[in-house]
Amino acid sequence: MEKHYAVIGDPIEHSLSPGMHNAGYLALGIDAAYQRFQVEPSHLAEAVEGLCALGFSGWNVTLPHKETIIPFLDTLTPEAQRAGAVNTVKIHEGQRIGHNTDGDGFVRSVHGDLNGFKGKRAVLLGAGGAAKGIALALAAQGMHVHILNRTPEKATALVELVKKWGGMATSGEFAPGDWMEAVDLLVQTTSVGLRGEHFPFSMQGISDRALVVDIIFNPSETVFLQDAKKQGCRTLNGLGMLLYQGAYAWEFWLGGQAPIEAMQRGLKEQL
Ligand SMILES: NC(=O)c1ccc[n+]([C@@H]2O[C@H](COP(=O)([O-])OP(=O)(O)OC[C@H]3O[C@@H](n4cnc5c(N)ncnc54)[C@H](OP(=O)(O)O)[C@@H]3O)[C@@H](O)[C@H]2O)c1
Repeated sequence: MEKHYAVIGDPIEHSLSPGMHNAGYLALGIDAAYQRFQVEPSHLAEAVEGLCALGFSGWNVTLPHKETIIPFLDTLTPEAQRAGAVNTVKIHEGQRIGHNTDGDGFVRSVHGDLNGFKGKRAVLLGAGGAAKGIALALAAQGMHVHILNRTPEKATALVELVKKWGGMATSGEFAPGDWMEAVDLLVQTTSVGLRGEHFPFSMQGISDRALVVDIIFNPSETVFLQDAKKQGCRTLNGLGMLLYQGAYAWEFWLGGQAPIEAMQRGLKEQL
C-alpha cells in the first residue's frame, strides 16, 4: 500500500524536500509519495487533523510551525524536547510523535571535515530557530559553543538553554574579536546573504584552520562564504544540513538506511 509523506510550512513553494525524498523512494523501489502543503498558522490544527484523517504516515514541519505544532502532538522524542521544536512527525499506532533532526543533520554534515568535536570551539553567528538546534547538537557532542547575535538577549537566552542541557556555552558581541583566532568551526546561521547581501562584518583575521559553514544553500556560495574562502578557510554551504536532516527523518519513518546518494541527486537536480 502506498505510504504518504509531506512537508508543511508557510511559505512552502520553494521546498526541496519533495524532490529529495521522492528520488530516494524511486531509488529503493519504495511505494511512497512525498508532497508539499502550504499551511497558514491559523489552519495548523485542522491541517494536523487532516493529515491524520487522510492516513499520512508522517510529515516534516518547517517555518513557522516548528514550535506551534507541539500542542497537537502526543509525545516528543528527547531531540524534540531538547530543541523545543519539531521538524518531523511520525504516526505510530495512532500516536503523533514529534522529533527533531535539524541539529543532528547539521552535525553529520560537518563530521567528515571537522575530524572530531570533543573539546573543540564552535562560534555561531545568529541565535534564531536554526541556531538553537545546531548549538544544542554541537554542545551535546562536547564542543564549547560561543554565540554572537545582533540582539544580544537572544544569544544570552540560548547560552542558558545549552547550559540547562549540560553543555558549555558563552556569548559575546556580534562583531570581530579574539574568538576569530581560536575557532575550529564557524557557523553562519542568520538569514543575511539569502538575497546576495554582504555580512555586517568581515572575516578578516579568522584562523585559516577554521571550517566555515553558512547554512544558507541558495545561493550556493554567499558573500560571507566567499569572504571566508579568501581568508584561506575550508567552507561548506547548508545543503549537507538539508540532506542529512532529511535522511534522519527518512530513517525515523521507514527504518533502515536512507539512500543518501539518490537523495543528494534529487536535491541537486532542483538547484
Ligand atoms: N540548511 C538548512 O537545512 C537550513 C535549515 C534551517 C534554516 N536555514 C536557514 O537559516 C537561516 C535562519 O533561519 P532561522 O529559522 O534560524 O530564522 P530565525 O529564527 O528568523 O532567525 C534569524 C536570525 O538571523 C538574524 N538576523 C536577521 N537579519 C539580520 C541582520 N540584518 N543582521 C544580523 N543578524 C540578522 C537574527 O538576529 P536577531 O535575533 O537580532 O533578529 C536571528 O539570529 C535562514 O537563511 C534559513 O534559510 C537553513
